[in-house]
Amino acid sequence: MAVIPGDGVGPEVISASLPVLRAAARRAGSRLEAVELDWGGDRYLRTGRAMPPDAVDVLRGFPAVLFGAVGRPDVPDHELIWGLIIGVRQALDLAVNVRPVQSWAGVTTVLREPDGIDLVIVRENTEGEYAGIGGRAHAATPHELGIEVAVHSRPAILRAARYAFDLARSRRGRLSLVTKSNALRHGYTLWDSVVAEVAAEHPDVECENVLVDAMAVRLVQRPRELDVLLCGNLFGDILSDLAAVLAGGMGMAPSANLLPGGDVPALFEPVHGSAPDIAGRGVANPVACMLSGAMLLDHVGLPAAGRIVRDAVATALRDPSLHTPDLGGSASTKELAAEILAAVETTT
Ligand code: NAI
Ligand code: MG
Repeated sequence: MAVIPGDGVGPEVISASLPVLRAAARRAGSRLEAVELDWGGDRYLRTGRAMPPDAVDVLRGFPAVLFGAVGRPDVPDHELIWGLIIGVRQALDLAVNVRPVQSWAGVTTVLREPDGIDLVIVRENTEGEYAGIGGRAHAATPHELGIEVAVHSRPAILRAARYAFDLARSRRGRLSLVTKSNALRHGYTLWDSVVAEVAAEHPDVECENVLVDAMAVRLVQRPRELDVLLCGNLFGDILSDLAAVLAGGMGMAPSANLLPGGDVPALFEPVHGSAPDIAGRGVANPVACMLSGAMLLDHVGLPAAGRIVRDAVATALRDPSLHTPDLGGSASTKELAAEILAAVETTT
């Protein structure tokens, strides 16, 4: 696999995760080769670009990519986000972003009863408000304006929907389509009709349509009844951060970017960013990155190794003395990672 540690806490959570992923692969009777790429903010400051011009070809040589985070306070955010992560998602046409959210025994959250949350947000990953279409005009005048065009196409909705319905079928058989088709009557009504077609192909999946504001309420009040949420790009981005915090926080939320059935590498990354407020202090929670690595192991045909990682994370999290500060504890990244590694090594 290729590994892009990136900026801020990215390198901290990646270096905590790699030994765990390697050990889990070994326990499952395999070997995990990792090639590190120094792409991100430092490279941008050195060369004017976050990644080399042939970056996408480089990535195509790997079955999968593990990515930390990009973003540094001294570089405009959109330069690095577009120059790296959104750029890669678009160039590789990584159609869906998959964000599982679950509660963990031992981890308390803002919810009164976080137990039993087990849902997956499937986010269309190439279009919506993130298609990159728009412009700025009349700079430095009182009429200055910015236009961001939301793009929703049948093929993009279809591939995200098919992935989400198949996933729901393999889980509890429930899918919630999240839109705002009462007010945004062009793009999201297309979502409603295309998803209704896919629902007809999957009569065994129970499908409901929920407006995004109502879904924000449902996530807080009754998250346990949710199974698979199918969202456009923007709503998926926002709701997955909300869901992550309800289940333990940004330090716990993994994700995958993939092209179902496509011949391109899938990219796995924690949902969180480079967390400059805590970077360099050795206190970042490495679990989101490790769980992203577990999804990577599943994807490259090592589901036994993926399970070993998740079981080891669950074992360590049951002990509050191993929690990092984001979980209310005082353990360091290294202390938590060392216990998870030990749990991997002793898995029977
Ligand atoms: P963020 O996710 O970096 O941080 C939000 C909050 O969560 C902060 O309080 C941070 O300390 C906390 N947090 C994040 N990861 C954590 C971890 N592993 N352990 C413990 N606490 C953690 O989001 P923010 O602050 O909006 O963005 C910071 C930078 O990251 C910006 O430059 C932004 O553009 C970039 N970013 C990059 C992303 C990516 O590379 N995929 C995604 C989101 C943001
Ligand atoms: Mg986000």
